[in-house]
Amino acid sequence: MNSSTNQVYSVIWHNNSVSLIDQTRLPSEYTFVEISRCEDMAQAIKTMIVRGAPAIGVAAAYGMYLGAREIETGDRDEFLNHLEKVAELLRSTRPTAVNLFWAISRMMRTAYETLGTIEEIKQTLLQTAQAINIEDLQTCHAIGDNGLAVLPKTPAQLTILTHCNAGALATAGYGTALGVVRSAFREGRLARLFADETRPRLQGARLTAWECVQEGIPVTVITDSMAAHCMKQGLIDVVIVGADRIAANGDTANKIGTYSLALVAKAHNIPFFVAAPLSTVDFSLSDGSRIPIEERNSEEIYKIGNTILTASGVEFYNPAFDVTPSKLITSIVTEHGVFSPEELIKYQEKKVA
Ligand code: MRU
Repeated sequence: MNSSTNQVYSVIWHNNSVSLIDQTRLPSEYTFVEISRCEDMAQAIKTMIVRGAPAIGVAAAYGMYLGAREIETGDRDEFLNHLEKVAELLRSTRPTAVNLFWAISRMMRTAYETLGTIEEIKQTLLQTAQAINIEDLQTCHAIGDNGLAVLPKTPAQLTILTHCNAGALATAGYGTALGVVRSAFREGRLARLFADETRPRLQGARLTAWECVQEGIPVTVITDSMAAHCMKQGLIDVVIVGADRIAANGDTANKIGTYSLALVAKAHNIPFFVAAPLSTVDFSLSDGSRIPIEERNSEEIYKIGNTILTASGVEFYNPAFDVTPSKLITSIVTEHGVFSPEELIKYQEKKVA
């Protein structure tokens, strides 16, 4: 966090290394981890010191540079071969967020397309990682402001429900879903944010609520199982969530629990928005059934801190994401405007033509 403002930056290039906010320790400790080797970056992504699809992309881009700078050869082919191994290591960290793969591919393309000495390629890789970082911040501000246009006009001040953390911590800054919330707050359109606690990693309770408190955004934390009841009571006007991967037809993978939220929003006639950069759209997948879903350690379910919650002998299933069918999604808010799920593919086809 910059001391003169209350802005949060999850990934910072600083003194020839990367400072990551340690998101496993928030909100009780606001600390940074210094990363100067690609192996440590891979571990930080796996263990969720850094998390959230766009933030993982930015972190992996710097991880590519950290790996590149350690390659000691003057031979271009040998350098590129080694760099492919760095890319492989970083790709193996988390399977669902497509921004990770997008950023690594962009870094690899940069390496292949840069002519000149190995030293020059390394410098171009650093510049590209920094560009990815800055672009993501700009993208989030654009998403936040584009989201304002689709918010219902009444009531004048809205209560928004979100799931997980799609905020500054999950991006280069400002956030996607939380970016829309921030813009709404700035414009006087936000009455209150409801944040699902988001079992099992509690990103809503720990991270989204923390971000809101930093900026005085009114926030109420509920458990995931309370969302339907709150909607029935008329407490929620809009739902806005982030995304880890959006298929070409608009089906959206996001934190586990998002699908059930979309179903209950539909049942209560409440608009359900997804806010994400276009780098989260995987146009190579026709629909969401082909999105790889990460399964994480069962310890995330049976343990809170040092307390074990369940009897031994129990089995667990811990999918970290689910896929919300596009028919439950009102619109997708991106940095290039707001699309219905069907319009996404048309936009891409027009861009490619
Ligand atoms: O497992 P996480 O915490 O990385 O999951 C994060 C989410 O599901 C976010 O909603 C998503 O990545 C969008 S972040 C702008």
